[in-house]
Amino acid sequence: MLSIIIPTFNESQNVPVIIQRIDQTLSEIVPYEVIFVDDSTDETPRILADMAKKNPHVRFFHRSGERGLATAVMKGLAEARGDVLAVLDADLQHPPELLPVMLKKIDCGYDLVIPSRFVPGGNDGGLSPFRKLVSWGARMIGRAMLSRVRSCTDPTGGYFMLRRSVIENVDLHPLGWKILMEILVRGNYKKLVEIPYQFHRRLGDRSKMNIREQVNYIRHVARLVKASPDDWRLLKFLIVGLSGVGVNLTVFTFLLHVLDQSEVTSATVAATISMLSNFLLHDHFTWKGMGKGIKFVRLIKFGLVSSIGIMIQVGIVFLCMEWWDWYSFMANLAGIAGGTVWNYVGNNRWTWTN
Ligand code: GDD
Ligand code: MN
Repeated sequence: MLSIIIPTFNESQNVPVIIQRIDQTLSEIVPYEVIFVDDSTDETPRILADMAKKNPHVRFFHRSGERGLATAVMKGLAEARGDVLAVLDADLQHPPELLPVMLKKIDCGYDLVIPSRFVPGGNDGGLSPFRKLVSWGARMIGRAMLSRVRSCTDPTGGYFMLRRSVIENVDLHPLGWKILMEILVRGNYKKLVEIPYQFHRRLGDRSKMNIREQVNYIRHVARLVKASPDDWRLLKFLIVGLSGVGVNLTVFTFLLHVLDQSEVTSATVAATISMLSNFLLHDHFTWKGMGKGIKFVRLIKFGLVSSIGIMIQVGIVFLCMEWWDWYSFMANLAGIAGGTVWNYVGNNRWTWTN
């Protein structure tokens, strides 16, 4: 059976339409139930209760005094009886006509099916330019910080289908709105697939998204980063790297201008001290508890990795400028990026291995 979970907050105009479209789409195809989890303060619960009486597919839970999209979805997932579960919004921005297509993918062996506005054929026409920008920023943050989210182009869209096994025995701690991010990071799935869809304009009333939920999103991402060791380590590595730049600039300026040393002396001492401070911070923070054996050996390894990193960095700058005529600034950025990737991977694989 397919369980369809629909969170609702004051959607009285939309619920009769969505249930009609779901019935039309699915009645010949698959056994299903539609679970509304409602926190409304208007007449929506009355309409839903009425629908649940007349339509055998409809189940309905009202939570009074409680609010929150993600927890509403959690409640629906907990009540669901199906072995395949889907979540969609009530306002028809997520077309229910896609459900059979998604179900086919599950039948083909996929664990998680995510309609995306950002694969060829998709479209997020239903958002204002400002909301588009905010939504883009949110997606970029999530995908930059969380490796498991990178396999999905639309982790914030709110429309998805999954096998029950993906979330069974998984501890989900959603915060705010984005339950899918939680599932992407913590869920048990092997095969994920995206299908294109058109995000329509909202039917009836206004969006319930607000600045508070945007702040919650950032808090949620931060929490997920801390819960995924590899992502957290990479972030720590980058923070230490930035601190190294700060140390270097401070020491350099101090030696050059206060102690009147030569440029070469100042730069050499600054580079050495910042390298040492980076090493110590990585040893006690980034890869805490992962260094085996003698610390001095790790320092030598770190020095070697960094030296190769510098060669890679210089090589990239040279290539970009001489072969591809890039501006020096862009070439330097590309060099720094290349060197940083090398340093992270090199140290992760060789200097601090557990
Ligand atoms: N039960 C419950 N409780 N439902 C809620 C609550 C709540 O506190 N807040 C919102 N909902 C329901 C709405 O009734 C709707 O069915 C769905 O959650 C999405 O709310 P909208 O108000 O339509 O949000 P949106 O269209 O701005 O955002 C949607 O699309 C975005 C795409 O950019 C959501 O799916 C976002 O997660 C998504 O990012
Ligand atoms: Mn909406």
